[in-house]
Amino acid sequence: MRVLTPDHPLIAHKLTYLRDRRTDSPTFRRLADELVTLLAYEATREVRTTPVELETPVAPTSGVHLSSPKPVIIPILRAGLGMLDGMCRLLPTAEVGFLGMLRNEETLEAVTYANRLPEDLSGRQCYVLDPMLATGGTLVQTARYLVDRGADDITMVTLLSAPEGIEALQQATASLDVPITLVTGAVDERLDEHGYIVPGLGDAGDRLYGVV
Ligand code: URA
Repeated sequence: MRVLTPDHPLIAHKLTYLRDRRTDSPTFRRLADELVTLLAYEATREVRTTPVELETPVAPTSGVHLSSPKPVIIPILRAGLGMLDGMCRLLPTAEVGFLGMLRNEETLEAVTYANRLPEDLSGRQCYVLDPMLATGGTLVQTARYLVDRGADDITMVTLLSAPEGIEALQQATASLDVPITLVTGAVDERLDEHGYIVPGLGDAGDRLYGVV
């Protein structure tokens, strides 16, 4: 698995405001959206394209279009929804599928409660959106699920990651015969005893949408 942490002052700036407990939900949503667009630029560096010929008003030339089948963007509900618009801004023609997963707060294991994805993902590049890579349970399960359905290239985009989660994802995906890339805004220090990222930004879903 490749791990990319783009080094850019705007990413660091927006992450600093996201971490700040005084940042309210509307501001948090806007910053998360902007940050994802910056991460999406890096995450889509290897999106597949097909050469095309065209004519400008001045002369014939060549260029590229996104290849078919189009990439699939998969936000993990609920917090991944806060990253969807930022990703779609760069890939407006991608299809969007949904996976609903939540963490059992006692066992910290991921439980799937919703699935709206194509059964056949053969030949599709998949972009998975989940703000926090903590224990890795959700993204490990997601990677296996997508590979089972034929995905042949998976990029995961997170705002923050814990070293423990990266290690778990590395180990669990090493045997999968599919290239996996993680693009993350920052790698933090560690997880606490409740599975929260330290220093992190708290519960991403609650900060985006409020406590429900
Ligand atoms: N999920 C969150 O929203 N925050 C964390 O710190 C860990 C998991």
